Parts: sequence; C-alpha cells; structure tokens
Amino acid sequence: MGTITLINNETGEKFDFELIECTRGPKAVNFSKLFEKTNIFSYDPGYSSTAGCESTISYIDGKNGQLLYRGLPIEELVEKYKFTDVAKLLITGELPKDDIQSQEFDLELRHRSFLHEGLINIFSAFPDGGHPMANLSSAVSALSTFYFDHKEMGDEDDYQTMARRIIAKITTLVASSYRNSVGIPFVYPDVSRSYVENFLYMLRAYPNGRLKYSLSGEEEILPLEVEALDKIFTLHADHGQNASTTTVRNVASTGVHPYTAISAGINALWGPSHGGANEKVLDQLREIGDVKNVDKFIARVKDKSDPFRLMGFGHRVYKSYDPRAKAIKGLKDELAKKGIKMNDRFSEIAEKLEEVALNDDYFKERNLYPNVDFYSGIILTALRIPVSLFTPIFVIGRMPGWCAQVMEHIKTPNIRITRPRQVYLGK
Ligand code: CMC
Repeated sequence: MGTITLINNETGEKFDFELIECTRGPKAVNFSKLFEKTNIFSYDPGYSSTAGCESTISYIDGKNGQLLYRGLPIEELVEKYKFTDVAKLLITGELPKDDIQSQEFDLELRHRSFLHEGLINIFSAFPDGGHPMANLSSAVSALSTFYFDHKEMGDEDDYQTMARRIIAKITTLVASSYRNSVGIPFVYPDVSRSYVENFLYMLRAYPNGRLKYSLSGEEEILPLEVEALDKIFTLHADHGQNASTTTVRNVASTGVHPYTAISAGINALWGPSHGGANEKVLDQLREIGDVKNVDKFIARVKDKSDPFRLMGFGHRVYKSYDPRAKAIKGLKDELAKKGIKMNDRFSEIAEKLEEVALNDDYFKERNLYPNVDFYSGIILTALRIPVSLFTPIFVIGRMPGWCAQVMEHIKTPNIRITRPRQVYLGK
C-alpha cells in the first residue's frame, strides 16, 4: 500500500495519506482523516473525484466502455441469463446454479408480487394524470409501513426477504401506478406467468384479467417481447455509485427503513439528468420530427448561450460508448429483424443524431456518446409501453442493484452517517 504526500505551500507542512488499491481501476487516496490531520477539508462538488464507499457489486471502466456485475460482463449476462438470475446474482453474489434454481427464484418473486390491499388503496388517493414516478416513490415509501420489520434486520435471511419482497412487488407497484394515472382498475398478478411476462400482463390486461380480444382471438404476450424487456431490465440492474444509488446509500446511512431509502432513490432517478432522460429522449425525437431537422437541432445543442442538451448523450464516467447503449442499440436492430414493429421515424432520427454527433468536434472533444437512455425508448415504444412508464421501467431494472447496495451499506462495519462539509461563502 503506497502513500501520497500533501504539502501545504503556505506553511511547508507535509502530510502523508494512504493509497488504497482497488481490485480494478485507479487507486484512491484515503482522505477520511484529512480534516483531522490538516484542518483542511476537500472540495469536490458533484463528487467527480470522490469515492463515498467500498463496493463489490458493479464496476465501470469508463475509458474502455465496460460494465461488470459481480465481476461478470453485462454482455455475457444479457446473452445467457434472465433478469431474475441477474437479480439473484446482485443480491446474493451468486447466479442460480441450474435451471431449477433459476425457475425457483423467478417463482418466489411471482408469489411475492401481491400487494397488501391497504397499499392498493393508496393509489386511489392520487389524481388521474399524476406522473407514475411520483405515485411510485410514495407507494414504495408506504411499503415500509406494511413491512416495518425490515427496519432492523438481523441475519442474512432478513436481508434476503427485504430485497426479494421489493424486487417482486415493484412490478405490481409500477403497473398499478400507471393504471391509476390513467384511471383504469388494478389487476392482480398472474403467478402462472414469469416475472417479466407477468409485468407486461399487469400493464395490458383488462380488469377482468383478459388480454385484448379481436376477431382472431385473444392477444398473447409474445416471448420475443418478454425477452426484450428482460434484457432491458438486466442492462439497468446496477451502475456503481450513480446519483440515485448514492441517494439510497446516503439516506440508509441515517438508519432509516431500507424501503424509504429506496423511495428516495426513485425520486433521484426521476430527474432528467439521470433516469428521467429516457422519457425526455422520446420528447426530443418527437420535437425533431424529421431527419432533415437534425442539423438544426444539433446546432442548438452546441450553442453555449443555450442550456439545452441532447438527452441520452453524455455520461460522468463513460468517456467512450456506453456498453449498455451498445447492447440496447443491437437489441433494437435484432428485434426489428425478428418482426417487432419499431417506430421507423424515431429510429431514423436517433441514428442520424448519433451519426452527426459522433462526427462533430463539439461531441468528440467532450467525449459525448449515446448512453443507456438513448435507444431504450424506441424499444419500449415498440413494446407498447407508455412514455410515462419509461423511468418506472428503469426503477424495476435498478431495484436489485439498489437492494444489493443498501444491504452492502448497512452491513459495512462501523458505518458512519453521510455528512459532507461545505465551502461557506456567506455572511
Ligand atoms: N448535450 C450537450 N452537451 C453536453 C451533454 C449533452 N447531453 N452532456 C454534457 N455536455 C457538455 C457540457 O455542456 C459540458 O460542456 P463544457 O465543457 O463546454 O461546459 C461538457 O459536456 C461536460 O458536461 P458536464 O455537465 O460537466 O458532465 P457531467 O458529467 O456533469 O454530466 C450528464 C453528465 C449525464 C448529466 C450529462 O452528460 C447530461 O446532462 N446528459 C443528458 C442527460 C442524460 O442523458 N442523462 C442520462 C445519463 S445515463 C443514465 C443514468 O445512468 O443516469
């Protein structure tokens, strides 16, 4: 373990700080005693250069566009495993050993997907037209009152029950928050359907539990649709210490119920700089309307007197192509080839935007590439998922990650409350 020396040029004093070797990526300097030793604290707004915790859950190599969950590349996970397998990997550290274990875990989640009737009633208090994200964060917070026992967790089984419960119920909560927002009655989960299919079922079914009926019979949920959404969930499952995960950890550090910390994470995710960008990407594609308007639009993005940004582009950590975006773009092309009807106009505009941006000096100099949110909305639209549900879909995908992160945080020995300093410039 090396050290780094900080020299105060005003006084000539020297202070040594320990360097921490990470298993991957750059070293970190341990500044936890910086203030104690020097009476100086560090200033890093937005925490661009600050690690707030140790973690073994996911790793991002921003230079080479690589993302690992528990050491495994997302490309392998998305190809070979179901989302529920990946959820198990994140919350237990292990993938299912075989197909039986995989199915058992999926089935356990389906059985846990029912909501307490009192929780269902909460939705009726929200107005029609309310954004599903607002309904969702309130409902997740309310979940803590229904499962208050998770506030104090003892053994690993308690942690696993807490995590499995919310991973299971989040699909029902998202479907209910949407159905409520458009004024249609709630439908109960159907445990005969897999975790992902059940979610599509809860979105699409009529209140009598039947799917759309036409002269050719009752509609089916296509395996290809289930597979596509499954992969989208996997690609969102965890992502290091992003804004919402950091929020979850910060709130959990005060000792609150883990579901209230996750509810705070949902609110953080809603912002357009974070997960809310997937909804905004679609708004921008609509606004552009035609490929012939792309150049004009890009000129506006580059105009420094205008705060306007190209949504679905850029990332704090990735300074190369986001591997999630690459996988989602590939998935979009694959689904189109297999006959899932994409919105060709949106697809064409998005691809033109990417082509223009990637060849433009403004984007090249700043290493701005498409991120996970750029193409996901085109697939979600093809799956008939309403735009207001794009960010809630991100919530479902991220839930195993938040659970794993909250568990890791609470279990950290001698965990301290998050309490940064400030550079005071007031009177
Ligand atoms: N469009 C135009 N310019 C941009 C964009 C963009 N999307 N993103 C960054 N820039 C410019 C920015 O103006 C700045 O330029 P300059 O150096 O001239 O001031 C430079 O690039 C660096 O930007 P920054 O704001 O310092 O970067 P950041 O790391 O603080 O922000 C970001 C990262 C994701 C918030 C930002 O890229 C952004 O606002 N993107 C659009 C929103 C978006 O797609 N968010 C989803 C992120 S991925 C999903 C998730 O995990 O949340």
